[in-house]
Amino acid sequence: MQRVLVTGAAGGVGTRLRRLMKGLYPQIRWSDIRQPGDLAADEEFVQADLSDMRAVETMVAGMQGIVHLGGYSIEGPWETILQANIVGTHNLFEAARKTGVERVVFASSNHTVGFYPRSRRIGTDVTLRPDSRYGVSKAFGEAVAALYAYKHGLRVTCLRIGNVAEAPADLRRMSIWLHPEDLVQLIRIGLEHPDLHYEVFYGASDNARTWWDNENAFRYGYKPKHRSEDHRDVALAAQKKLAADPIGDWYEGGPFCSDEFDGGIERAPY
Ligand SMILES: NC(=O)c1ccc[n+]([C@@H]2O[C@H](COP(=O)([O-])OP(=O)(O)OC[C@H]3O[C@@H](n4cnc5c(N)ncnc54)[C@H](O)[C@@H]3O)[C@@H](O)[C@H]2O)c1
Repeated sequence: MQRVLVTGAAGGVGTRLRRLMKGLYPQIRWSDIRQPGDLAADEEFVQADLSDMRAVETMVAGMQGIVHLGGYSIEGPWETILQANIVGTHNLFEAARKTGVERVVFASSNHTVGFYPRSRRIGTDVTLRPDSRYGVSKAFGEAVAALYAYKHGLRVTCLRIGNVAEAPADLRRMSIWLHPEDLVQLIRIGLEHPDLHYEVFYGASDNARTWWDNENAFRYGYKPKHRSEDHRDVALAAQKKLAADPIGDWYEGGPFCSDEFDGGIERAPY
């Protein structure tokens, strides 16, 4: 892997990766709709709106691998999600196919499966249960990723990311936390592993309270280095300050499940 494009360069994850991935590949091109405020003189940057196909083709040209982080990263109005995440992700895969990109790592989300109760342990092969329009857009991303892998031969990894941070912030995050260095390890598997065609991994560190069977990632050699239990006291103290949320506390997706929830608790899925 010589030439890698990373979208979403100005975001929270992109900003961390610009530090952690420096020098990892001979050429790394960073992209976003807005220029990162702290862009260094030696960083290649292409400004592009993902919903603009021409701009996306220019952004992708000449690249071998893509890490696709760009998009709207929380719940939002349908039109915003539609343009940034649905049109944008389709544009990205179509431009990748046209320009001969070999591999894509797609930043999916735990919100594709947010409506599984925390009492269940799930693998990557369960029926999706998105908890938001945002989660639906990531489900679309995983589907379009599979189409381009199986029909057009791209090698694609979908990372159902939990929560990227230096430490887990509360009880829910103790189960889904992903340290940025462990994220880099997963990205490298996606960009470099010789046997990989299409895979879905959970983007999670070594979390003793996990809800996910991440055997699929372990098969490819993923060995997370960071343990959420090492941050237990701070996370549990922070949890005590949060108000109870009967729907959000029951499901993996947390507040994304309780937000706009009017399904009736007696009909809530198990
Ligand atoms: N941060 C997490 O814990 C987490 C968890 C699960 C999934 N993810 C996914 O990982 C990715 C990165 O997350 P983040 O926390 O850095 O998000 P972020 O919102 O901080 O960054 C996303 C970036 O995408 C850019 N963007 C938005 N619309 C765009 C468009 N139309 N064209 C081009 N760029 C556009 C934004 O300018 C922003 O810099 C996102 O796709 C997010 O959904 C993140």
